[in-house]
Amino acid sequence: MLATNFGKFTYKNPFMNASGVHCMTIEELDELASSTAGSFVTKSATLEARAGNPEPRYTDLPLGSINSMGLPNLGVDYYLDYAIKKQQEMTQQAPFFFSVAGMSVAENIELLKKIQESDFEGITELNLSCPNVPGKPQVAYDFPLTDQILETVFGFFTKPLGVKLPPYFDLAHFDEMAKILNKYPLTYINSINSIGNALFIDPATDSVVIKPKDGFGGLGGEYVKPTALANVRAFYTRLKPEIKIIGTGGIRNGQDAYEHLLCGASMLQIGTELQKEGPAIFERLTKELAAIMKEKGYQSISEFHGKLKTID
Ligand code: SIN
Repeated sequence: MLATNFGKFTYKNPFMNASGVHCMTIEELDELASSTAGSFVTKSATLEARAGNPEPRYTDLPLGSINSMGLPNLGVDYYLDYAIKKQQEMTQQAPFFFSVAGMSVAENIELLKKIQESDFEGITELNLSCPNVPGKPQVAYDFPLTDQILETVFGFFTKPLGVKLPPYFDLAHFDEMAKILNKYPLTYINSINSIGNALFIDPATDSVVIKPKDGFGGLGGEYVKPTALANVRAFYTRLKPEIKIIGTGGIRNGQDAYEHLLCGASMLQIGTELQKEGPAIFERLTKELAAIMKEKGYQSISEFHGKLKTID
């Protein structure tokens, strides 16, 4: 009932983690692989291991979370070795996802060349939207640079590739970014990363709640769902149909998942709520989504996928 089509792949259900949550170590990745989730993605890797930003760098908030992790990760070789071994063990036909986030264009190219030359057969996600590295702007807010990176990447990269995007807030920006993305054989886009550089104040102490960047960090959870839905919808109605969409942002229950699918997402990533509940969340979400579909009389996701109604 919950099977979802994602390009040439079919997943048993649309749920997976958002990169950064429960995917730093082999132990965490194995827990995701053996959970109810339809797939999983590794923590965005850099060439060398990174410690990331000073703590506290993640805090739960009343309606979500704020983080400035700064891409802590164990280095691309750690995840690539794991991925190559794991893909042989997996019984599912549909591959999992491998995320990379270079600190520069040159590092992104080097990371992707490494993946291209490796035995990894899964799907690669190029994270162009991390808001948390001091001094490094989010690449995908620079339209010509994004275009230039994709042109270079598709000059040599022949495996399935998607990009993780930041939220956009203007219809002109959706138009401009979609025009760039449509030029390339992308497997998917992942929309959205956290809403970058938000600020949360603890009313009891008059202080920010995370240490890096004087408290500025990426906002996730319930706060961001309407922005995430808008981005999924805006890209679903602008991208060529071959480019699938992973909807990320504010999914806490079956209804949130249903809304992302209605807007046109084909897979769904869970960040803040996975951090709060752990991998058992996937069982709850699959049950809740199935119950909503049953109530509405749907046998499959394809019956309502992308079919958001507007008012005439
Ligand atoms: C981080 O490690 O700072 C989060 C990654 C991201 O938002 O892309």
